[in-house]
Amino acid sequence: MCISMASKMYATDSKVRWFASEGDINSKLASIIGKKFETYREKWDAVNRFELETDFPLFLQLETNQICNLLCPSCPIGQPEAYTKYISSEKMDWELYQKIILEGEKYDCPSMEPQGTNEPFLDQNLENYIKFAADHGFIDIMLNTNGTILSEERARKVLKSGITRLRFSLDAATKETYEKVRLGAKYDVTMKNIERFLEIKKQEKFELPMVGVNFCKTKFNEHEEDKFIEKWIDKVDFFVIQDFQPPDLDTNYTAFLPSKSNLRESIQESGYNCQQPWQRVLVRSNGEVCPCCAFFSTELSLGNMKEHNLHELWISKEMRELRSMHKLGKYGENPWCKKCVNHMGGEYGDSQLIDIKTPSKN
Ligand SMILES: C[S@@+](CC[C@H](N)C(=O)[O-])C[C@H]1O[C@@H](n2cnc3c(N)ncnc32)[C@H](O)[C@@H]1O
Ligand code: SF4
Ligand code: SF4
Repeated sequence: MCISMASKMYATDSKVRWFASEGDINSKLASIIGKKFETYREKWDAVNRFELETDFPLFLQLETNQICNLLCPSCPIGQPEAYTKYISSEKMDWELYQKIILEGEKYDCPSMEPQGTNEPFLDQNLENYIKFAADHGFIDIMLNTNGTILSEERARKVLKSGITRLRFSLDAATKETYEKVRLGAKYDVTMKNIERFLEIKKQEKFELPMVGVNFCKTKFNEHEEDKFIEKWIDKVDFFVIQDFQPPDLDTNYTAFLPSKSNLRESIQESGYNCQQPWQRVLVRSNGEVCPCCAFFSTELSLGNMKEHNLHELWISKEMRELRSMHKLGKYGENPWCKKCVNHMGGEYGDSQLIDIKTPSKN
């Protein structure tokens, strides 16, 4: 069995590919949630084609803290240089979280994720964060988790919270690889937690969340991609294959890049148009509002939520120019985007620019 067995492919953006195990998950979600969900997905697709510039982001990523119990080598939490630069001990307080959600409600914002670079289940208030968003108009609420501490009690609590998509990040199909790439996790414990979660969901007849598994492809696990899909395709609603993103841009992560990457080939052949500044903002735990989810995205901060509101930053000259730049494929005009795309295209550093074409999309 391989990716082609999956029935439908979606893309969050060109770096994150979702495959439904059976049927069409967005149609399933639309049938459960209703017309509002369909309208939101139509807008999402138009935004991703750079055809619709909305007056407020369609997706908010709210990072409530930057705490994790693992040290995955692919993540800034597990990389000392990136950790020093991009991980802070500051937490988003409940008042700031509420302020952002209420602003989202005012603009009819449909989707959010109360998580960033952290393990969301370490926060005992997680389910309240989700519930608050669900009670204030958000119809698509998602989370990624490492699954290591998902007890039966938390499973029951999160099932009742209003969450629509839950994704377990595993990055491996075997115990041996899992315990290398998810440093600090125990394979048997995580598998048991996921199985129990799926059982409770089934027994108690919860339609939501849609449950998926995540595989961030690197040199260290690429040999297990097919086995991973085979293992999960009949057990979960979807699986996600993600391209590796650098935790910071001053360290050479070339050794992490898989030998084959569709994203890399596509960048080398036809350039890159980043969809994220058209879709979302990520509010870091220290309040910085960033135009994308890159681990180093504070370098592109638009301002701090303690002094601004989201609408004002979303329609700011700086953000509109960033959107226009990416629509035109001129990512090289922003030094951080230039390095980011360059790295995804297979080259480390600024001096070794690869010859990437910059197509114009009008
Ligand atoms: C930073 S984690 C935070 C949530 C949670 N701790 C987890 O691991 O799912 C969010 C997602 O980023 C993925 N990720 C980690 N390092 C990555 C990298 N270098 N490039 C792309 N995705 C990465 C993880 O696999 C996970 O799915
Ligand atoms: S579990 Fe998630 S947040 Fe924690 S180190 Fe791994 S990828 Fe990073
Ligand atoms: S740094 Fe630029 S190119 Fe990279 S994800 Fe962010 S907005 Fe997109």
